[in-house]
Amino acid sequence: MGIGKKVEKPDYSEAKLVVAMVGLPARGKSYLSNKLTRYLRWLEYDVQVFNVGQLRRKKARMKQQQMGIKEDHSAIYFSSSNEEGQKARDALSEESLSNLISWLRAGGNIGIHDATNSTVDRRSKIAARVASEPGIDLIFLESLCDDPEVIAANIALKVSSGDPDYKGMSRENAKQDFMNRIKQYEKVYETVTESHLSYVKIINVGRQVTVSRVRGYMQSRIAFYLLNLHLKPRAIYLSRHGESMFNVQGKIGGDSDLSPRGKKYAKALPSLIHDIVGDANLTVWTSTLRRTIQTAEHLPYEKLDWKSLDELDAGVCDGMTYEEIEAKYPEDFASRDEDKFNYRYRGGESYRDVVVRLEPIIMELERQENILIICHQAILRCLYAYFLNLNQSDLPYIKIPLHTVIKLTPKAYGTDEERYTVPIGAVDTHRPKPGTHTPNYTSKNTTIRDYYGDAD
Ligand code: SIN
Repeated sequence: MGIGKKVEKPDYSEAKLVVAMVGLPARGKSYLSNKLTRYLRWLEYDVQVFNVGQLRRKKARMKQQQMGIKEDHSAIYFSSSNEEGQKARDALSEESLSNLISWLRAGGNIGIHDATNSTVDRRSKIAARVASEPGIDLIFLESLCDDPEVIAANIALKVSSGDPDYKGMSRENAKQDFMNRIKQYEKVYETVTESHLSYVKIINVGRQVTVSRVRGYMQSRIAFYLLNLHLKPRAIYLSRHGESMFNVQGKIGGDSDLSPRGKKYAKALPSLIHDIVGDANLTVWTSTLRRTIQTAEHLPYEKLDWKSLDELDAGVCDGMTYEEIEAKYPEDFASRDEDKFNYRYRGGESYRDVVVRLEPIIMELERQENILIICHQAILRCLYAYFLNLNQSDLPYIKIPLHTVIKLTPKAYGTDEERYTVPIGAVDTHRPKPGTHTPNYTSKNTTIRDYYGDAD
């Protein structure tokens, strides 16, 4: 008889929502839709983005391959006075929405229609199409932005990121054409004011948010998440507590003190953090367990301890070594290895439970600026997976070594990562999935540095 049980994903089969983006090019629509996707996937909804620009390019490629006809997608194509272009763009928008609806019908939960949807006429077509689909809800998400710096950064990102629209073109010409395209859209742009529609309007990513006719659980959850976003430059620093006495003894859980090497790490942290953060403001979050509070002890910043950051509760296995668990509960040991994300210890938690309890932390993290979180391996894996958009089966195997600070910098295109390892020895508590090689979960934007500060 096993001690724990496998906990399955909640039943979201009835959840069906179209999120239709609205906004001029370079106003952060992709940024918002990427963030929203990551958040909703982390909550285990099945989410997919349907990007009209991508569909346009795909169809143009096929036309060129099959008929040898090369379409002109320079700024003129996007002009409202170009009737043919307008027709083609409307048709692409409709096709993309149809694909999205078919995908929802096939089991998806939230489809994001990523397009400018910048006129009342276009939005009324979308609303009519979705209204004809029983059980599918619709919300518009508009990104308005008049901050020249943000617009310039988005334009630079578009033309420097190897965007297929500008393949083979000089950066200067690409920039010019993209700015002309924006002008075409500006001529006919109508912000969302249709009082019968559900919408969230975000001005300059977080400076002001208007929420109208939002109803139902999913729409409210999305609106609340979006209310918390901001674009101020900031970083999130993650560190496990210093090595603990339980780490040294190979035991899991508990509330032990730091080992002598763990105490050294706690002493080395202030100068490492100052070297990385400089004089910027920082708040330190810990769990309520002794080993994290002791690790933060010497840091001269405001501190807050959160019960939700306590380590995954191992229930009846708390305080045991893995060898003891394997000997006493061999079946459970094996089933945890089989599906570690879903396995819940008896009287304790699964990784899935931890993800649920961390939601308020994620929300608060989105609102905050520089934060250093000192907590535990399982908790940091869940937070890291949120920022790096990693899937559930990989999550319980992410490497978060002791005596290492991970700096995450959220960017418009994803999250940059730097790791600073302090040369103070510590046990390795990482257990790879049996029979598999251990993937090294570092993003392509990762820099790894050895830190040789004051770690005596
Ligand atoms: C595009 O074709 O790149 C976008 C079309 C649109 O949303 O207007």
